[in-house]
Amino acid sequence: MGIERIKIITVFGTRPEAIKMCPIILQMKKTERIKCVVCLTGQHREMLHQVMERFAVWTDYDLDIMQKKQSLTSITEEILKKLEYVLKIEKPDLLLVHGDTTTSFSAALAAFYHRIPIGHVEAGLRTYRMHSPYPEEFNRQAVDLIADIYFAPTEWARQNLLKEGKPVRDIYVTGNTAVDALSMTICQDYDTDILKWCSGSRFILLTAHRRENLGEPMRRIFRAIRKIVEEFPDVKILYPIHKNPQVRETAQEILSGVERIRLVEPLDIVDFHNCMAQSYMILTDSGGIQEEAPSLGKPVLVMRDTTERPEGVETGVLKIVGTEEERVYWEIKNLLTNPAAYQNMSRAVNPYGDGHASERIVEAILRRFYREEKAEDA
Ligand code: UD1
Ligand code: UDP
Repeated sequence: MGIERIKIITVFGTRPEAIKMCPIILQMKKTERIKCVVCLTGQHREMLHQVMERFAVWTDYDLDIMQKKQSLTSITEEILKKLEYVLKIEKPDLLLVHGDTTTSFSAALAAFYHRIPIGHVEAGLRTYRMHSPYPEEFNRQAVDLIADIYFAPTEWARQNLLKEGKPVRDIYVTGNTAVDALSMTICQDYDTDILKWCSGSRFILLTAHRRENLGEPMRRIFRAIRKIVEEFPDVKILYPIHKNPQVRETAQEILSGVERIRLVEPLDIVDFHNCMAQSYMILTDSGGIQEEAPSLGKPVLVMRDTTERPEGVETGVLKIVGTEEERVYWEIKNLLTNPAAYQNMSRAVNPYGDGHASERIVEAILRRFYREEKAEDA
């Protein structure tokens, strides 16, 4: 007997996973041939629910594991324990995870232990430096080790998977669903109070949260940014601070009390994308923002030593600038004072996708399951 309806469980738990999985869930819900179950691990709480509300996606399970200052061990342990019950009840045909978080790793491991096939969205990204970014490089390699279907966003990601010996028939190049999300949020002439505050200035959007940047690297970055604001009276910084208390302490210590720096709560995705679209440039250590900014033609200085997303660097929109204070200061100053350098980085070309990645992912799943069914029936 073949499959009548494929049951797919999507498991995710952080803000960026939600932003990139919701377009796939919405796409799956358009077909009768898939029954989609949504399980949140709750690795994030407020930042996750903000996204779920915005996309109006209904949740079937919330493992609600988040703790203040949680450790990698506690996240992994809680997910393994709690997801087991869900998998036993649901018995899905496929479990979908996204990217490289500890949620993705733990959920894939739980599926592997229960012999449930795993689909990895955003597969094949690599730095091949196990500690940079940490622990994400391990997570993504570990998920790819046990995945059955790979949704590689780009040809470069596909090549990484092929070099590692993954079967060619299991890899689909789809584009990145971050670009799908972006196509749902950007509005011409978008306005909010925060954008009113930014108007009339060269406004720089800042985000920072990476574990390997916590502490001294983040202090160096923030000192460089403060120096820029003191030197350029037409520059304003908008910084929606990640909920991580360690990030908040450092941001308060160095960036609070400066008139042209505004520290705000994490922005809703529609506000954030439209702030990106209206910014002068973006400073970040985020992964997802590197995929989104090229669509908007905004220069991005990436405050990390490595990137698993080299395509944007090749197109010239992203530049890896590390975390040394002098270098970060100089690179921002260069974009503020050198029009040619600014123009060179302001290209609206996105190597990560065209806004149709979710459609390709769902089509690939349908083709794969129904092809296998036909083979079984034959
Ligand atoms: C996690 C991912 C990282 C991803 C990032 C996206 C891991 C190991 N890290 O890092 O890959 O880039 O999410 O943002 O999977 N907190 C809240 N409310 C929230 C979210 C977080 O209070 O809604 C606080 C909690 O105190 C929590 C802390 O932030 O303990 C850190 O969260 P955690 O998920 O462990 O790490 P992130 O740095 O967010
Ligand atoms: N983002 C958001 N509000 C904010 C900051 C970021 O909605 O205040 C979005 C951003 O557009 C991107 C994603 O969050 O889609 C990036 O998440 P984050 O930087 O936390 O994680 P990473 O991508 O580095 O894993």
